[in-house]
Amino acid sequence: MTIQTVKTSPIAGQKPGTSGLRKKCRVFMEPHYLENFVQAIFDGIGGVAGKTLVIGGDGRFHNDVAVRTILRMAAANGAAKAIVGQGGLLSTPAASHLIRLNQTDGGIILSASHNPGGIDEDFGIKFNTPNGGPAPESVTDAIFAGTKTIDSYKIWQGDAPDIDTIGNTTLGDMAVVIVDPVADYADLMETLFDFGAIKALFADNFTMQFDAMCAITGPYATEILEKRLGAPAGTVVHGTPLPDFGGMHPDPNPTWAHELMDVMFAQDGPDFGAASDGDGDRNMIVGHQCYVSPSDSLALIAAHAQNAPGYKGGLSGVARSMPTSAAVDRVAAALGLPCFETPTGWKFFGNLMDDGQVALCGEESFGTGSDHVREKDGLWAVLMWLNIIAATGQGVAELLKDHWQTYGRNYYSRHDFEAVPTEQADVAFDGLIARLSELVGQSYGSLTVSAADEFSYTDPVDGSVSHHQGIRVMFGDDGRFVLRKSGTGTTGATLRLYLEALEQDPAKLDQDPQDALADIITAAHAIIGLAAATGRTKPDVVT
Ligand code: G1P
Ligand code: ZN
Repeated sequence: MTIQTVKTSPIAGQKPGTSGLRKKCRVFMEPHYLENFVQAIFDGIGGVAGKTLVIGGDGRFHNDVAVRTILRMAAANGAAKAIVGQGGLLSTPAASHLIRLNQTDGGIILSASHNPGGIDEDFGIKFNTPNGGPAPESVTDAIFAGTKTIDSYKIWQGDAPDIDTIGNTTLGDMAVVIVDPVADYADLMETLFDFGAIKALFADNFTMQFDAMCAITGPYATEILEKRLGAPAGTVVHGTPLPDFGGMHPDPNPTWAHELMDVMFAQDGPDFGAASDGDGDRNMIVGHQCYVSPSDSLALIAAHAQNAPGYKGGLSGVARSMPTSAAVDRVAAALGLPCFETPTGWKFFGNLMDDGQVALCGEESFGTGSDHVREKDGLWAVLMWLNIIAATGQGVAELLKDHWQTYGRNYYSRHDFEAVPTEQADVAFDGLIARLSELVGQSYGSLTVSAADEFSYTDPVDGSVSHHQGIRVMFGDDGRFVLRKSGTGTTGATLRLYLEALEQDPAKLDQDPQDALADIITAAHAIIGLAAATGRTKPDVVT
């Protein structure tokens, strides 16, 4: 008997969130925890017999063990072939690309994205469909249903093959192909961007620092920026992926990528800086003494994308998640492009991209990408900015200034209140929902509520409806706030308060966002009653 059928029983709480199942690593290490979920994935997609899967993850603690377990389960469930990144490593966008490139039946990605790694930190797993994108809710619902009724799983009894050596091997009847995690992805980037022009930029002493935060993008950035584009050695820092990310919190924002921020804001700092997250799908863009908010980055890319060879024909359309600022909407309106507003989470962009309705998508949470894959893509955004800088001859600060002069500035900030006890978060959140209908017409300082609702989305392609996607409170054209509960946290509840105010007066485009948003912040707190419900007055993280 080489295929073992192991008896198990349902484990509570295996409901996939915004981006797959995320839990503390030690939870994933409990008996049957990973196995139950993997079997539920296989069953939820109609089995894997005869199918080909891509498997890899961001290299965090437990990644290699999990890859081997999944290989043994895939073989026992009759999969025909597994394509695995060497060492079990694949960035999320590279995994998405491999799924598409090889026309596979999907893939399993191991990552808790930007959450810290290590035995006492976070781990995660998600299934991506054959289009390369995160499974839609219909699939994750089926997977979750499976976790509630599971009574056994299948696993190959012998050891998994060596995953550290590139080449072809087998496990039972399943072919196992161990591939270079970087090469295909780097080749794809060469088809999208003007590598010659970017190379010339570096040859002309343009300086850059890329902080890989000891996570997965190190090898990708080193190959692309230093080897293929000729940036000097040392451009990429923290470039070796480590199981605990070297203790760094690999979330590319000014709070967690503070080492990069310090370098970029120093007198003699580089011209351009960027960071990526644990699994390589997020990005932060910084110029010398100039931080670019992700919402502005998306809008600026929309305005300039045709400078990159892969986008020279223009964009079919753009999309942003609801809490993302409307800066990109202004560009879309000016260029006559369709513009979509979707719920939070990259999975909602998939149908629009598959249907050819949008080519560029973004979220305020440091996610930007295009239809070259079906995930957001950190390095892609970095290369897009480099291409725009090379093509326009303008630096980051200049580009941003011009952009605001042309389109106005959507001042924007997100305030996160983390690890709030769930009951307290519910009091604040449900209390606000209950009061929404009374808010319209009420004034808070100079601001009057013009609309207030819970965001629902009807997918224009398949007609599926997603309710309860965040609370919106609008103050006419002056601004809005949005309140959401995080779907990726692993401790208590995280409340996200998104704040936005449009400024079109050319004399007022240079304010600190927190100052420009002060009235909206005050109104939001008065309306939500956050302090009364949770005792919180100050956010834990401001981006
Ligand atoms: C967060 C971000 C969201 C992003 C997701 C996965 O989800 O806010 O935009 O798609 O991570 O990277 P949240 O914790 O808010 O549910
Ligand atoms: Zn990520």
